[in-house]
Amino acid sequence: MNFKEQIDTKRLPQHIAIIMDGNGRWAKERGRLRVFGHENGVAAVRNTAEAAAEIGVKYITLYAFSTENWNRPKKEVDALMSLLVKTINKETETLNKNKIRLQAIGDLKSLKPDTYNELLKAIENTKSNDRMTLVLALSYSSRGEMVNAVKQIAEKAKKGDLDAEDINCDLINQHLNTHFMPDPELLIRTSGEQRISNFMLWQIAYTELYFCPKYWPDFGKEDFYKAIVDYQSRERRFGKTSEQITK
Ligand code: IPE
Ligand code: IPE
Ligand code: MG
Repeated sequence: MNFKEQIDTKRLPQHIAIIMDGNGRWAKERGRLRVFGHENGVAAVRNTAEAAAEIGVKYITLYAFSTENWNRPKKEVDALMSLLVKTINKETETLNKNKIRLQAIGDLKSLKPDTYNELLKAIENTKSNDRMTLVLALSYSSRGEMVNAVKQIAEKAKKGDLDAEDINCDLINQHLNTHFMPDPELLIRTSGEQRISNFMLWQIAYTELYFCPKYWPDFGKEDFYKAIVDYQSRERRFGKTSEQITK
């Protein structure tokens, strides 16, 4: 039986977040430049989005570019940015065909103007699709996001719009980039690295973590479904005892 058939569609995670890692090593293994790996990662993005929509996942967040990734060689950053523009441009039609809405989180204003404009255009063009939301994390850093949230809250407190007593988890959630979606139940990272790299630190408080040894360009639909099957085999206790959960 394949992994897709093993999934219990009544217990699907609503939101799956993915750290797409390993493009550079994938290319290096083939004696090619890192950019070649990024180019070959696009098919994995398409397959993953399709796989998620097929079974009824509501939100997919893909970590595509971190704030720290700006520190890579300029040539690689430029290549990634133009690949992004090209891909968004090319894929908008497919997103509409599959009724997928595009969204983005991160310091989007720091993107190059053409990347930023292309992104806004695609978000606008897909905004009424309601089958699934595909969120790109671009120029994203979780600590940066939290610092911004604290600044906004402090401004409101200064103006007298809220008191310190009004600050709770809900209020913080509302000030994060991710305010429009639930926390991910499952986080997948490819490439074998087992770290979070400044991704959704607040949101993954009780997320199940899944590490896949494959490099991102080799990640296919069955790998995605395998992660969900693994997720469904776990007992999520949220601090309670197993007996409390199963009774
Ligand atoms: C992930 O692959 C893509 C980005 C971070 C933009 P990497 O480029 O990090 O590839 P590795 O991890 O160096 O192999
Ligand atoms: C994390 O990958 C960021 C993205 C996948 C976009 P990195 O390759 O940048 O992370 P580190 O440097 O290995 O932690
Ligand atoms: Mg990497």
